[in-house]
Amino acid sequence: MDNKSYLVKMNGNGVCGKSTLNGKSLSGNAVNGNGLGHVTTNGSSYPAKVAKSRRLKWEVKPSEMANNTLNPIRSIVDEMKLTPNPDKPMIALSIGDPTVFGNLPTDDSVLQAMKDAIDSHKYNGYAPSVGYVKSREAVANFYSCPEAPLEAEDVILTSGCSHAIDLAISVLCNPGDNILVPRPGFSLYKTLAVSMGIKVKFYDLLPEKEWEVDLQHMESLIDESTSCLIVTNPSNPCGSVFSKDHLQKILKVASRHRVPILADEIYSDMVLPGCSSPSMASLSSDVPIMSCGGLAKRWLVPGWRMGWVLIHDRNNVFGSAIRQGLVKLSQRILGACSLVQGALEGILNNTPQSFYSNTISLLKTNSEICFNELSSVPGLNPVRTSGAMYLMVGIDLDHFPGFENDVDFTERMVTEQSVFCLPTSAFEFPNFFRVVLTVPEQMMVEACVRIRQFCLCHYQHHSRHGNQLDQ
Ligand SMILES: Cc1ncc(COP(=O)(O)O)c(C=O)c1O
Repeated sequence: MDNKSYLVKMNGNGVCGKSTLNGKSLSGNAVNGNGLGHVTTNGSSYPAKVAKSRRLKWEVKPSEMANNTLNPIRSIVDEMKLTPNPDKPMIALSIGDPTVFGNLPTDDSVLQAMKDAIDSHKYNGYAPSVGYVKSREAVANFYSCPEAPLEAEDVILTSGCSHAIDLAISVLCNPGDNILVPRPGFSLYKTLAVSMGIKVKFYDLLPEKEWEVDLQHMESLIDESTSCLIVTNPSNPCGSVFSKDHLQKILKVASRHRVPILADEIYSDMVLPGCSSPSMASLSSDVPIMSCGGLAKRWLVPGWRMGWVLIHDRNNVFGSAIRQGLVKLSQRILGACSLVQGALEGILNNTPQSFYSNTISLLKTNSEICFNELSSVPGLNPVRTSGAMYLMVGIDLDHFPGFENDVDFTERMVTEQSVFCLPTSAFEFPNFFRVVLTVPEQMMVEACVRIRQFCLCHYQHHSRHGNQLDQ
């Protein structure tokens, strides 16, 4: 290294041309004991420090956190060879974004609220890290009910529900702790937890019981290091909705072991007619709950990145410490976009009921088409949907000896029929595929026709082991 001298500013405000310490100019070999003053790098002034910091070659490595961050959907889908049949237009039933086909625009009132926020010129600056009080109040009013009252201070606005989940896990868990996560389940929980050194334990959902929790299994997983139980209701990927009775049983398990709940309720109120989905908080008398939600799905604007954590403390278990922890974490990076915050009150108060019903109506139609059509396809076992925007289809691989697994199966369905459904290995639960129900109705019909063709082409009456299974 050449014999240069570097000027380092000592007052913590960044580097500028001249070395200063608490506003005083430094010269010569001045040093304040906390670090370097006017340092020469030829080894003469402070050789030990210089030698310590000197690297002989460039070596910049990704952090452990980066290395430990893995999105299973990406790692599975990116590895798949997705080459559609050129004679058939592609139908992607894989993307959980209700806007991709253009058949489900958001409501005019939602757009108007956003336009008003822009025109007001009031929302171009930084908002408080937890969100504007008025916007938090709007969310609190929207979700408050006598059994689970909310005030503005119980709401933290975030950048989408993903950020809300991140805050909730981060405030509840330390490295080495474990969290309980549904299987099959939304992959983000594991992605976030593992990157933070938090262990993930999967509790089983039972397809034969419309994806209810295997409560015994769940309870058996809890130990003294379990710091949070995640419940997704309605469910991605299952499209299931837990009954009140079942939710109460889950709460009992959490209560017995004093484990707080992270309720991922991003699909709350997206339930088919005849079902209801009470919030977990409205049923809890003693279990503290953080409910994570947002605008993405119900208001059909996932790109607007507006989410929230609703703090439903019970008996002051979370107390001020957890609340302050959430506030501190929210200060790392400002979350929710100011403009969308400005629009939030209008969005929540002015969206007509007919808008929500129209979405439900399309989901109902498509889920019936998909369930009815695929129920009669040999080798497939669809599970009826009650909510969210998905339907799961079991693959009886014994009858499809040409395929190794769900990934193989869905990959070939793209090659031959240009229909792409997500293999559920991406949700830690192989041998199913997930169908997204937000596509236009005609596309759903066409997709089912092609899935049938595909299965008829590959279905074998004899199992892969040579046993006659069906007559
Ligand atoms: C169960 C579940 N939780 C959270 C999210 C993330 O929502 P957002 O887009 O608001 O971050 C999704 C998105 O698909 C989801 O399915």
